[in-house]
Amino acid sequence: MHTVTVDLGERSYAISIGSGILDRLPGVLSQAHMGGPLALVTDSNVGPLYAGRVRALLSEYEVHICTLPAGEDQKRLSQIEWLCGRFLEGGLDRGSGVVALGGGVVGDVAGFAAATFMRGIRFAQIPTTVVAQVDSSVGGKTGVNHPLGKNTIGAFHQPSAVLVDMTLLETLPPRELCSGLAEIVKHGMIADPALFDYMEKNAEPIVRGDLAALEWPVVRSCEIKADVVAQDEREQNLRAILNYGHTFGHAIESATRYTRFLHGEAVALGMICAGQLAVDARLLDPESARRQRDCLRACRLPVAWPEGFESPAAVDEAVALMKHDKKARAGALRFVLPDRIGHVVQRADISREQVRKAFEALRQMPAPTRAT
Ligand SMILES: NC(=O)c1ccc[n+]([C@@H]2O[C@H](COP(=O)([O-])OP(=O)(O)OC[C@H]3O[C@@H](n4cnc5c(N)ncnc54)[C@H](O)[C@@H]3O)[C@@H](O)[C@H]2O)c1
Ligand SMILES: [Zn+2]
Repeated sequence: MHTVTVDLGERSYAISIGSGILDRLPGVLSQAHMGGPLALVTDSNVGPLYAGRVRALLSEYEVHICTLPAGEDQKRLSQIEWLCGRFLEGGLDRGSGVVALGGGVVGDVAGFAAATFMRGIRFAQIPTTVVAQVDSSVGGKTGVNHPLGKNTIGAFHQPSAVLVDMTLLETLPPRELCSGLAEIVKHGMIADPALFDYMEKNAEPIVRGDLAALEWPVVRSCEIKADVVAQDEREQNLRAILNYGHTFGHAIESATRYTRFLHGEAVALGMICAGQLAVDARLLDPESARRQRDCLRACRLPVAWPEGFESPAAVDEAVALMKHDKKARAGALRFVLPDRIGHVVQRADISREQVRKAFEALRQMPAPTRAT
């Protein structure tokens, strides 16, 4: 088992990562001083698969299972009210804890409920998607969407413990697994050439579901994110590098009404755009941009608009939407751009024309350059 520590002074916590380690949950929770009664928050896909097992492991606690319908549209304020009602009915108090069992949606909603219930109670995460294991369960961002904007209502609330059991991914649909790989490739691109190389070489077994091959990149991703978060918990500056590919990605997600692409798929397209922008700005060599594209493609992620999709209107709308991105500061578009594999810089001097041109990268569909 690997342990990654998120070093935040008195709010530090451990991420335990391994295969078949779910049984360690009682020890993990007691080390994190989680008292009962506990609320186990899950969704309608994950609950039937794993909630019974988790409840059985927690036989020493009074456990209240709260099951949300699965899906991003459940990330809304009304579910916080519903959860807090369940917590009150279950007798949770200031010493109680919330355990999130599921993907990023469950983690964000359960975390925000824990952040606000009785002005904040402890919570722990058992992430069951790759996105949640390498991204959403690390760093303490919790929240819900508003009809006018995604992730616009939320709080920083660090978990007290995170338990990552790789075997929980066995039931994850392959498209969801591949979506999560985008965030791992992103971590390689922003901070670690060795992680990028590993993904380049091992994408094939990983997309076939070889979870042993996925363990090291999950550990490494958690280390990278934990390190960035420890230096800049509230995103004053450095933490923004984790948004690599996301300015373009969010614009693509909103322009397609969150229905066409999974988050990681949109981020993969966003990294292609950011890579092209970096090449056009003479920051990145074209060979590195090609390697990024081939690696994402090997992870079964989209690297161009799907056939028949491309429409100038969608791109125009995407460019316009970037202005509304909550990460845009004082109207200036900020971009995280790679200057080599494993390193990024932040730039605030990018013109709209450069942005529009970067989207052009998604028109082309070059054949893979590597022999297969
Ligand atoms: N807080 C953060 O820092 C942060 C970071 C990244 C993403 N997010 C958020 O995370 C959300 C996306 O997370 P996600 O990609 O995990 O989506 P998700 O939570 O919707 O899960 C994807 C789908 O897989 C199902 N599922 C989950 N685990 C499963 C398993 N083991 N077996 C079978 N089915 C399973 C879910 O029910 C759902 O249908 C977005 O709302 C995003 O904003 C937050
Ligand atoms: Zn992301």
